Amino acid sequence: MCGIVGIIGNEAVAPLLVDALKRLEYRGYDSAGVATLESTGLDRRRAEGKLVNLAARLDEAPLSGTIGIGHTRWATHGVPNETNAHPHFSENVALVHNGIIENFRELKDELIADGYVFSSETDTEVVAHLVARNLKQGMKPAEAARQAFKRLEGAFAIALMFKDEPNLMIGARNGPPLAVGHGENSMYIGSDAIALAPFTNQVTYLEDGDWCIIKRNSLQIFDTDGSPVERVKQLSVGSSLMVDKGNHRHFMQKEIYEQAEVVSHTLSHYLDFGKCEARLPVDMPFDFSKIDRISISACGTAYLAGLVSKYWFERYARLPVDIDIASEFRYREMPMTEGGLSLFISQSGETADTLASLRYCRDQKQHIGSIVNVHESTIARESSIVFPTLAGPEIGVASTKAFTCQLSTLVSLAIAAGRARGALSAEEEHQLVRDVTEAPRYINRALKLESEIEKVAHDLAKVKHVLYLGRDTSYPLALEGALKLKEISYIHAEGYAAGELKHGPIALIDEDMPVVVIAPYDRIFDKTVSNMQEVAARGGRIILITDEKGAAAAGMKTDHTIIMPEVPEILTPLVYAIPVQLLAYHTAVLMGTDVDQPRNLAKSVTVE
Ligand code: AGP
Repeated sequence: MCGIVGIIGNEAVAPLLVDALKRLEYRGYDSAGVATLESTGLDRRRAEGKLVNLAARLDEAPLSGTIGIGHTRWATHGVPNETNAHPHFSENVALVHNGIIENFRELKDELIADGYVFSSETDTEVVAHLVARNLKQGMKPAEAARQAFKRLEGAFAIALMFKDEPNLMIGARNGPPLAVGHGENSMYIGSDAIALAPFTNQVTYLEDGDWCIIKRNSLQIFDTDGSPVERVKQLSVGSSLMVDKGNHRHFMQKEIYEQAEVVSHTLSHYLDFGKCEARLPVDMPFDFSKIDRISISACGTAYLAGLVSKYWFERYARLPVDIDIASEFRYREMPMTEGGLSLFISQSGETADTLASLRYCRDQKQHIGSIVNVHESTIARESSIVFPTLAGPEIGVASTKAFTCQLSTLVSLAIAAGRARGALSAEEEHQLVRDVTEAPRYINRALKLESEIEKVAHDLAKVKHVLYLGRDTSYPLALEGALKLKEISYIHAEGYAAGELKHGPIALIDEDMPVVVIAPYDRIFDKTVSNMQEVAARGGRIILITDEKGAAAAGMKTDHTIIMPEVPEILTPLVYAIPVQLLAYHTAVLMGTDVDQPRNLAKSVTVE
């Protein structure tokens, strides 16, 4: 999604704004811009494409103002070009915006009728003109902004500044996150703490409906009625981490390789490795022994982590799980018995559909638990309990280490729930914890297969379509493998339950569409072998990801067989995630795509 930064400083802020925007690149964008207050008034530089293009514009024509705003735009209304890039101006107002103004058409018609001329196709520009019109009607800047915000419907995070106000910035939040950073005789505003990290780690997060008046040495926050509200100033932990690629070519590859370490960190938060027990937080607002159903809602890869956990909660805790993608769940109006448990999984903790589902479940009087990687995010703040993943900042848009850390958290919760409900004996718990504790070791062994997996990528890079098959907990992994491949290599891929092959997809099978089969040797392996034989009998090409026993038992010709270490059944999703991630990564590298920031994608989808 879009990135917002603003600075009321004591030196030329334009270069600082660009540096802060670079820390937001992971959110995905297609144009960028900055605006500052110069001696001659408001001025701006904007550029299509990456931030290097904006930096070049500033080299050609520097800006020297000490107050400014900056923006990376992920196009929603209007093509990605310089004209539509933020900041947007109206007379004596400059403004940047993240989100969607749903009633922008009505507002635009009203403003055009009032003689305002629009220079862009964006919904954002209506806000700048609304504020300018309020100023012209005699309102002071803060009131002009507040009255404009009240006219807006939809999701918005906004930062704005004024021509005659060298020490004033206004911010507003309704949906997408917005944080204010506290400096020494300077103040900052940004989409998240990572953007503000170069300046401060003292941040205040605005809540939905808040707007604020920022001056060099003060911050006032108000609700939509204009009543002052207090928000906590907190030390942001995530922001202090410097994010760089190390000796890897892409953030995604670095983050794939971090998984053994961050999975270990996450597991250590939930498992007592000495006692071989799963530990629940002491401040649990509910008791698993009194929960008779779980609902899970999430998007994308986070949803697929939830889908894996459905097998675990039902198998090890005997707890039925309803799971749905959040964009469907939020409008289904699912009847829910008061006192149930609703879990929300989100790396960013800001995904709009997931947040909306959370609010639906809260209204249905469910216990709200969230599994998030950004511990101060909106989803975290609106949960009654947070089960953090400890993946560290995930910069690559395609989720990798967050996924395996979500799985680590969920498998720990499933074991703890099983113990709490008497579905697992102490010995069964100890054995499962011992198995799960081995995850980092197996992940590292899987990473050693990278060169073999890279060879397979050469075959995938030549095709237009790929089918992934899996059963049981390898079925969500087939979906994840297909998602990874399509989102970073742009090759069409589909994941399917292997048992469903004969119910339609088998019509697709031919020599032009490789079939990736994810199948550790387990109690249903033979069923998957039948599916592979159905593929082979129709000239299909098989890429099998299995272990020694599976390779021997399959007894059939494949294009490639990746031999994984033999892992305990409970661990296969965590460990087999590695080859599907590496396969997608190397295919994308061969395709020459922007692996860390794939086209059209955003790291955090904070709009519907
Ligand atoms: C994952 O590779 C994708 N980038 C995307 O599906 C992502 O998982 C989804 O948008 C959910 O994001 P969240 O975990 O931040 O809620």
